[in-house]
Amino acid sequence: MLWFAIDRNISTPLTAQVYEQLRSRILSQELAEGDRLPSSRELAGNIGVSRNVVLEAYERLTAEGFIEGRPQAGTFVAAGSSFERMREAEQERGAPSAARRRTGDGGRAIDFRAAHPAADYFPRTVWGRLAKEVCLDAPERVFGYTQAEGVPELRGVLSRYLLQARGVRCHPDQIVITTGATQALHLITELLSDRSDPCVAVEDPVTDEMRTIFTYAGSTVLPIPVDEKGIIPEKLPAGVKPDFVFVIPSHQFPLGGTLPIQRRIQLLEYARQYDCCIVEDDYDSEFTYEGAAVHSMQGLDPERVIYVGTFSKILSPALRIGYAVLPERFVADYRRLKWFADRHTSALEQLILARFMEEGYFERHIRRMKKIYRKRREALVSSLRQELPQAAILGQAAGMHLVVEVPGVRFTEALLRRIYAEGVQVYAVEHYAICKGGHEHQIVMGYGALPIESIQEGVARLRRAIEDELIVNGIK
Ligand SMILES: Cc1ncc(COP(=O)(O)O)c(C=O)c1O
Repeated sequence: MLWFAIDRNISTPLTAQVYEQLRSRILSQELAEGDRLPSSRELAGNIGVSRNVVLEAYERLTAEGFIEGRPQAGTFVAAGSSFERMREAEQERGAPSAARRRTGDGGRAIDFRAAHPAADYFPRTVWGRLAKEVCLDAPERVFGYTQAEGVPELRGVLSRYLLQARGVRCHPDQIVITTGATQALHLITELLSDRSDPCVAVEDPVTDEMRTIFTYAGSTVLPIPVDEKGIIPEKLPAGVKPDFVFVIPSHQFPLGGTLPIQRRIQLLEYARQYDCCIVEDDYDSEFTYEGAAVHSMQGLDPERVIYVGTFSKILSPALRIGYAVLPERFVADYRRLKWFADRHTSALEQLILARFMEEGYFERHIRRMKKIYRKRREALVSSLRQELPQAAILGQAAGMHLVVEVPGVRFTEALLRRIYAEGVQVYAVEHYAICKGGHEHQIVMGYGALPIESIQEGVARLRRAIEDELIVNGIK
């Protein structure tokens, strides 16, 4: 069914809206050459406008050559009505116009991108009210430049929360609010880099975004293998002192392991021996669905561990609020780096967040989102068990993603294109691997941003694409 939204609150006439919607779909090939358009009566019914509005839009599109009427047959998208370059690009990516027709959701493939929160659950009403209150109540100084480290209101409530929820031991003055975990890590790299020969020991596989932060700052990355429990400390470099070791101990990305205490201790002993820091990224630890969440590494050794957190997953990446918790000896230099990077993160946004936390909304929001993500995860796991019973599901029941390993199936670029052509997007673990070749049978599937029906439909499409692949390769 062809459907799109019509907005009656804007001044653009309805005919123009229908015309624009159809035209852009034709140009982008969501409506491909030769596709039959619904009758004017049917489309009018689908989108809730009068038939005349659709007829007028169809007339205009016909006059401009986008569509053509065929006697006794209906109205069709005309030949040559989309850009060749666009068509070629689409074909290279695996014929998504076919995929788009299958999606039935106005064109987009079902995207299992990891680490994307459910944007539709952002607490808009409360946030909007608090934003208004802050704007009206905040003292004038807040509207000027404020401290690089962030407003005391947020650092205070955050330090209490981190102690209680994550076992992070710090004074509020050890916290520096940053523009997301991304900036926190960037500044840490600047802070700790050995000027002559900078190098960072990094879990492998790891998110490419985080790894690029280190290489972009000029550091060499030393890949340290990860298994189902997380980083393997025995594989840390002997005889080389890294500037720091980057780990995600609570829920490794992408493989999803939770680092056991023995390995945490081994890591800390290594850091003491080589006199370096551990940088702990704790970006999605709030969402643990089985058992109690394991506390932070920072709590084990606040002098060796720099703890990094973010509000991007719990609330929204749009806020751009993250933070670093630093041993006291680094605080002054880190504040200076932050000041020269961008002065400070928006004080108004920080104050809204501080009130959101102080008034109890934050913990309520976490509880609510945990239920939602747990259901989404369950839907994904049971769809996978049903559609791909041969697959293994890896990683702790936590966060917003899991890893699926399908024996006998290599997730090559060609297969990923085939999957995409089926109307679903998944991500190869190999893509995140620094040393290639060890994860060819694995994909990452994020479920945070997908409603349950999309998850189920997405897995069914994935199964079809994998079956096709096995048939083509003569395995089935
Ligand atoms: C491993 C990891 N840490 C942290 C983040 C959060 O980054 P930011 O707070 O800058 O949005 C991400 C984002 O996807 C991530 O993948």
